[in-house]
Amino acid sequence: MTSPTFSPIIAGAMNLGQWQWNPAERLRWIEECLELGITTFDHADIYGGYTCEGLFGEALALRPSLRSQMQLISKCGIKLITPNRPSNALKSYAVGRDYIIASAENSLRELQTDHLDLLLIHRPSPLMAADEVAEAFAALAGKVRHFGVSNFTPTQFDLLQSRLDFPLVTNQIELSVMQMSALTDGTLDQCQQRRIRPMLWSPLGGGALFRGETAASKRLLVVLREIGDVLGGAALDQIALAWLLHLPSRPYPVLGTGKIERLAAAVAATQLQLTDEQWFAIWEAAAGHEVA
Ligand SMILES: NC(=O)c1ccc[n+]([C@@H]2O[C@H](COP(=O)([O-])OP(=O)(O)OC[C@H]3O[C@@H](n4cnc5c(N)ncnc54)[C@H](OP(=O)(O)O)[C@@H]3O)[C@@H](O)[C@H]2O)c1
Repeated sequence: MTSPTFSPIIAGAMNLGQWQWNPAERLRWIEECLELGITTFDHADIYGGYTCEGLFGEALALRPSLRSQMQLISKCGIKLITPNRPSNALKSYAVGRDYIIASAENSLRELQTDHLDLLLIHRPSPLMAADEVAEAFAALAGKVRHFGVSNFTPTQFDLLQSRLDFPLVTNQIELSVMQMSALTDGTLDQCQQRRIRPMLWSPLGGGALFRGETAASKRLLVVLREIGDVLGGAALDQIALAWLLHLPSRPYPVLGTGKIERLAAAVAATQLQLTDEQWFAIWEAAAGHEVA
C-alpha cells in the first residue's frame, strides 16, 4: 500500500447541503478549492442526513475529469434517525462487516466515483468486533485505498490496528484552541509514535471561537489578535490554524466553511510560523492559567 497524500488543508463537506447551492455552484466551489491546492474533501455517509455525498457527486459528475485531481474521504458507522433512513429506529453505531461494506459502496455510488482514497470508522463503538472491521476492510480492497479511524482513543486505535496487516493512516479528532483534550489524552502522542498525521475537525471550534461567548474565547480573541498583529496583520482564524499547524504531529485541519476567501486564508496560514512562546501564550489564554 503506498503512502497517502492529502492536502495540508482539507475541505469538510458536512455543511454542503446548508449552503443551498445548485450543482454548478457546487462544482465552482470544488474547482476553486482545487485551484487553492485544497485537493482533499472530507465526507461522511451521514452528512446532511445522508444527502451531502450525493450533492457532491452530482456536481463532480458535471466534470468527472476532476476526480483524478482530488482525494475523497468518507466515514461510516453512525446510524442517524432521518426520513432518508426510515429503518434507523435509534441513533446508534454500526460497525459490523456487512454494514461497513454496504455503507462504503453506497458512498461510492453517491459520490459518483469508483474509489475512496480514505474510509474512516466515524466513532468507536463498544460493540466493535475488530476482526469484523478487518474483514470489511479486506473486502473493500480495490475500492478503498486507505483506512483510518475517527474519535478513537489510543487503545481503541491499537485494538483495530492489531488485526490489520497494513497501517491505519489517521485518527480524525476534534482539536482547536477551544477544545484541547487531545493534547493530553494520548491521541497526539500515539500519532507521533506511529508516524501518522491526525486530521483535526472543528479546527476553529465550529465557529464558536469568533462569537466570544465564553471567558476562554474572549481571552483567546485578544491574544490571537495580538499575535496576528506581530505577524504582520494575520487574521484570527489564521493564527488559530497556525497554532494547530505548530504541533509536531503535523496535523491536517479539516475546515467547515464554504467561503472561498476563508479557505484561501487557511491555505495562507500554512506559511505562518509561530514561536513556541506564542504557542504557549495561546494555550494559556485557552486554559485560563499558565503552565505548571
Ligand atoms: N470526524 C468527526 O467526528 C467530525 C465531526 C464534525 C466535523 N467533522 C468534519 O470537520 C469539518 C469541519 O467542521 P466544522 O464545520 O465544525 O469546522 P470549523 O471550520 O471549526 O467551523 C466552521 C464554522 O466556523 C465559521 N467560521 C470559519 N471561519 C470564520 C471566520 N473567520 N469568522 C467567523 N466564522 C468563521 C464557519 O462559518 P461560515 O460557514 O460562514 O464560513 C462555520 O460556521 C466538517 O465539515 C466535517 O468534514 C468531522
